[in-house]
Amino acid sequence: MPEHIVLVGLMGSGKSAVARRLAGEGIDILDTDRLVEKSAGCTVREVFEGQGEETFRKMEEEVLASCLAHPGRAVIAAAGGVVTREANRRALNEARERGDAWVVWLFTDPGELVRRVTKGAHRPLLDGDPAGTLLRLSSERSPMYEGVTDCRVDTTHKGLDEVTTEVLSEFASRFGRWGATNG
Ligand code: S3P
Repeated sequence: MPEHIVLVGLMGSGKSAVARRLAGEGIDILDTDRLVEKSAGCTVREVFEGQGEETFRKMEEEVLASCLAHPGRAVIAAAGGVVTREANRRALNEARERGDAWVVWLFTDPGELVRRVTKGAHRPLLDGDPAGTLLRLSSERSPMYEGVTDCRVDTTHKGLDEVTTEVLSEFASRFGRWGATNG
């Protein structure tokens, strides 16, 4: 059984909320945005604005690698842009091949994402025209998500409970029960 479930998908797809449900006793929760912020000592927005997106992406790459190397069971909420770097796609696929990670794409229709997303301290890319940006990112990144995932769960018309249940049941059908949940 893989020790890590990795959640990927666009901003607003529910990665952090679902990750909280899948974590529990003996299962850590690792959120790449939070870990970048911890290592930078400031918010994602401050990194983007002060040091630029490229610096953010380098930090994100290091953080993702450390998450994938995390000892023990963990749920990894991987921020929406991790798939844009080739090194990250390779790291995810290598973790899958080793049997260490099972990667789920939380797909959401961009129109629904617009209704759901909150802007703010960690989403500078949504300043300006969130609807147009999410539509563009969805079309640019869908093939990238597809290329690193074992399973795609469509969250568009589903609440958090339903999405969590679907992820757990997809996992269980392959490997058996994932374990404790906070749900
Ligand atoms: C980004 C997604 C955000 C955050 C940053 C860039 C992206 O994370 O890392 O604003 O490029 O899609 P979430 O997906 O957790 O919102």
